[in-house]
Order: sequence, then structure tokens, then C-alpha cells
Amino acid sequence: KEIIIKKQKLYKIHLDSARYFFNALFQNKNEGYKYLINRGLNDKTIKYFGLGYAYSNWDDLTKYLLSKGYKESELLESGLVLEKKDKSGYIDRFRSRIIFPIFDVRGNVIGFGGRVLGNLLPKYLNSPETIIFNKRYNLYGLNFAKKYIEDETLIIVEGYMDLIGLFQFGIKNVVASLGTALTKEQGKLIKRYAKKVIMAYDSDEAGTKATLKGMNILNEIGLDVKILRLDEAKDPDEYIRKKGVDLFKQHLNESVSFVQFKIDILKKDYNLNNVQEKLDFTKKVSQILKQIKSPIEVEHYANKISKETGISVNAIVNEVYGKYSNLR
Ligand code: GTP
Ligand code: MN
Ligand code: MN
Ligand code: MN
Ligand code: MN
Repeated sequence: KEIIIKKQKLYKIHLDSARYFFNALFQNKNEGYKYLINRGLNDKTIKYFGLGYAYSNWDDLTKYLLSKGYKESELLESGLVLEKKDKSGYIDRFRSRIIFPIFDVRGNVIGFGGRVLGNLLPKYLNSPETIIFNKRYNLYGLNFAKKYIEDETLIIVEGYMDLIGLFQFGIKNVVASLGTALTKEQGKLIKRYAKKVIMAYDSDEAGTKATLKGMNILNEIGLDVKILRLDEAKDPDEYIRKKGVDLFKQHLNESVSFVQFKIDILKKDYNLNNVQEKLDFTKKVSQILKQIKSPIEVEHYANKISKETGISVNAIVNEVYGKYSNLR
């Protein structure tokens, strides 16, 4: 009972803070606003996502929330206010940053992400875990995306700007995992709303690694997983701005199965013109194909690999099932 009252209070603090940051950005059209316009967002999008700005001052938000009657202990519990090291007072967690309110699936503001305007580090700062913000159970944008599920599919991206960018271009069935490590709990949350997922992480090494981990988790949960490759840009936001929505959608349709994705990554490490490397590659692929349950699918991939290596489909399939008898 007490915890419910505490939570209600934290929701209220977050909503008041979100409004405060939004007004700071939108009424003043300051450097934060200009930054977002420069990144291609329009007013409608900024409003829709309730984006805001935190000035560089030490305690703007703290003062504002205290003036609204919240107690210091409540502000500390929200994670938005920190006690100074020498305990001489309180300061805002978010300063000199663009503010992204993070919503739960019902639309309550439960935390914030803050981005620096320039190249300082850390690039993003997020709210800490609180009794209303459980990161591993939450997906950014699901409160919006759930209304726009198409073909039982959700697209998963890494970051705020990817989701918002795609949204502005009309691709709205998108959620962001915020950072790269997708959790099982997030996967289960997705499964309540969709049967299929398309992972559209960044094309750098961190994004590729996170895709490999994430797709295993999603696959285990029983989701149909596909991978979107956007090699011509570093992430979906950059891609859709550079290449346009039509090309993005075309790539979306060409998303590959997670088996194909693993094969494609493996292939980069081998020179198929070298006999030994070709054999090693084919054996490694066979290990990947062992994970497939359907013999029809196995044959499909074996066929492709056969064309690339000149090794017979029969040999590859036998390698997959560990049968050698009919080769002797
Ligand atoms: P832009 O550079 O603004 O386009 O952001 P991005 O989303 O492309 O950034 P990046 O690919 O580096 O990171 C993807 C997501 O990971 C971000 O949207 C954040 O949610 C999270 N993230 C990135 N950098 C940090 C960081 O330094 N700290 C934390 N806590 N999260 C981060
Ligand atoms: Mn990234
Ligand atoms: Mn292309
Ligand atoms: Mn980006
Ligand atoms: Mn990125």
C-alpha cells in the first residue's frame, strides 16, 4: 500500500519534470531546440516525444520541484536530484543535455535520458534504477509503437534518435532497447505485442555483437527473428536521412533470417578461394545449420553454401546430421 503511494508520487515528479524540461526547450527555442532541428526533427515530433532541455545551471529542476512542494527525500528517490558530496545541498542530475522522457507501456514517465549537445562523454546519461524505473523490464517507445504494430512485427533499434527518426518518417512499429544489451525480460514484453521482430542495430562492431546476443534471446523466447543490415550507414537514423524511407523499407523487406546473418558474419573471416579456408568455412557453417529444426530449411541453406563452395549439398547435409555412411 505504502509502495503504491510512493510510486504515484514518483510518477508525478517525473511528469512535472518532463513538462519543465519540455517548456525549457520549446518556449525558449534555445541551443537544445536548435540541436534537434539541426538533426532533422520537426516541432511535431519534438512535441510528440515530449523532448526537453536541461540548462547548465546546477539546480534549476531541484529548485522548481521544491517550489512545487516535493520533499527532498522524494526528489532523491526519483534519481533526478543528487546530494552534493559535502552534503551542503542538492543538484540536478541532468545538466546541459537534451532530455528524452522514458515512458512505460501505459505512458507514465518513469525516467529520462539526456544527451550532450557536442562530443563530450558520456554521450548519454540515463536515470538510475528506481522503484518505477526497472531498465531490464522496459523498452523505449513501446507505449507509442503498440498502436502501430504491422504484420505482427516490431522493429528493435538501439537508440532514442533511431526510434524518433524512423517515427518521423512514418515507420512507427519501433522500440529501442537503449544501449545494446537486450534482456530476456524485454523480449517477453515484446512477445505480448508481436510475434515477429526485426533487429535493426547499429552496423558497428558493438551493434553486431549485440545483435548476435539479442537474436539468440529473442529466438529462445519463441519470436520469429530477422536482422536488418544497413551497411551504408552507421545506424537506422542516419540511414533513413541519407537514403530515404523507400530504400529503408526495401531493406526491411530484405531482412535476413538469423541463420543467414550468422553465415554472413562467418563468411567475412574466410577466403573461399583458399581450399583449406573453404573447408573450414563449410564445416563451421554446418555447425550453425545444426541449430535448425526443419530439414527443409537446412537443405535451403546447404544449397546456397554448395553454390558458393562447390561442395555438394549432400556432403553438407550429412555433415550437419553427422552421417558419413553413404559417403564411404
Ligand atoms: P546519436 O549519436 O545521438 O545519434 O545517438 P545514438 O543512439 O546513435 O548513440 P549510440 O549508437 O552510441 O547509442 C545507442 C543508445 O545507447 C543510445 O540511444 C543510448 O540509449 C545508449 N547509450 C549510448 N551512449 C551511452 C552512454 O554513454 N551511456 C549510457 N548510459 N547509455 C548510452
Ligand atoms: Mn551504437
Ligand atoms: Mn542498400
Ligand atoms: Mn545515431
Ligand atoms: Mn547509433
